[in-house]
Amino acid sequence: MKSNGYQSGFGNEFATEAVAGALPQGQNSPQQVAHGLYAEQLSGTAFTAPRGENRRSWLYRIRPAAMHGTFESFQQSHFHDDFGDGPVTPDQLRWNPLPLPLPEAPRDFVDGLYTMAGNGNAAAQHGVGIHLYAANASMHGRFFYSADGELLIVPQQGALRIATELGVLDVAPQEIAVIPRGVRFRVELPDGAARGYVCENFGLQMRLPDLGPIGANGLANPRDFLAPKAAYEDIESDFELVAKFQGHLWRASIDHSPLDVVGWHGNYAPYKYDLRRFNAIGSISFDHPDPSIFTVLTSPSDTHGTANMDFVIFPPRWLVAQHTFRPPWFHRNVASEFMGLVHGAYDAKAEGFAPGGASLHNCMSGHGPDAQTFDKASNADLSEPDVIGDTMAFMFETRAVIRPTRQALDAPHRQRDYQHCWAGLTRRFTPPAG
Ligand SMILES: [Fe+2]
Repeated sequence: MKSNGYQSGFGNEFATEAVAGALPQGQNSPQQVAHGLYAEQLSGTAFTAPRGENRRSWLYRIRPAAMHGTFESFQQSHFHDDFGDGPVTPDQLRWNPLPLPLPEAPRDFVDGLYTMAGNGNAAAQHGVGIHLYAANASMHGRFFYSADGELLIVPQQGALRIATELGVLDVAPQEIAVIPRGVRFRVELPDGAARGYVCENFGLQMRLPDLGPIGANGLANPRDFLAPKAAYEDIESDFELVAKFQGHLWRASIDHSPLDVVGWHGNYAPYKYDLRRFNAIGSISFDHPDPSIFTVLTSPSDTHGTANMDFVIFPPRWLVAQHTFRPPWFHRNVASEFMGLVHGAYDAKAEGFAPGGASLHNCMSGHGPDAQTFDKASNADLSEPDVIGDTMAFMFETRAVIRPTRQALDAPHRQRDYQHCWAGLTRRFTPPAG
């Protein structure tokens, strides 16, 4: 399925049809839809959600979504919601990149999902599941959706062609895609092997943060978010529909492609965003703002100003602050931070945090620059601005503690010596004489 292009805006009311006349005019559900299509509403929020938060789309499709076989259990033991309920270590944790599958062992996006950590759950409608994926095959005859949460996909290596019910998203590293809860899709790998990160958001849908005194512009601008134009396929075969529902995976046979929406209108749609479009704002005097200044998208919680999850990036930017330690200082937060690196190097670590790798610093666990970075930044020449030109790091930050999975703790690619990166920070205190 090829892309029919994009339409720009965040949460806009879109109207798009791949066949002229597919969309009814002046009403949503006429007695007969043009071209013999079926009308179906896809609601992403409660019917009575306030207008500014209400998300729904009307789909005009070849067959209704109800048509498939009976669901049965689907086994993919690495992809789950089991974050455990026992003790969780306050240790700082870091991992090397998830190894890519070998060429002789084809693995698609669904089979390549690997759950690293999470909190909350789908039933409670808060928290996140944090997954990695490593795949080397397109999904063939298989479609997937999560009823548990929207999926924020952050490619790190290799492009993804995400063919969804509402159209096609082509995303490459340094872009992101968001697939709303319930939307069915297939992932193809046009460049071959692919790896990246997925945040499955069980809470309120992500939205752009308020800008407060920043004003009407800046950070991620709404027009840079792209929703697909309608595109469909009309094919029949022995296909498989895989669903994630209440933390478990299910499969049903389906005798046609569910990507058969010929036209749709509404504001509940997948979208993509190029992280390089982010208008980074920072200090032009001294010190740094908190990293909330780099928030791309936020999922609010029921406590005002306290996010279920913030998606924060550390993009290329100039560092100009004077008499200031320019990298992030040492810190401990009430929030918990899962970090990944898409590209380049992260300015708080000299080595060990590789593109495709990950780190987890939980509530009140101290962290910050390693010894090498500390020494360099403490003695840097601040008379000149410094540019971090080759980087794209990000953070999934949550209000609740992020619980690493058993498989993530036991993984051979976990860096069991991570804490040693701070071992070289020597005692420097020199009390005044006398
Ligand atoms: Fe941090």
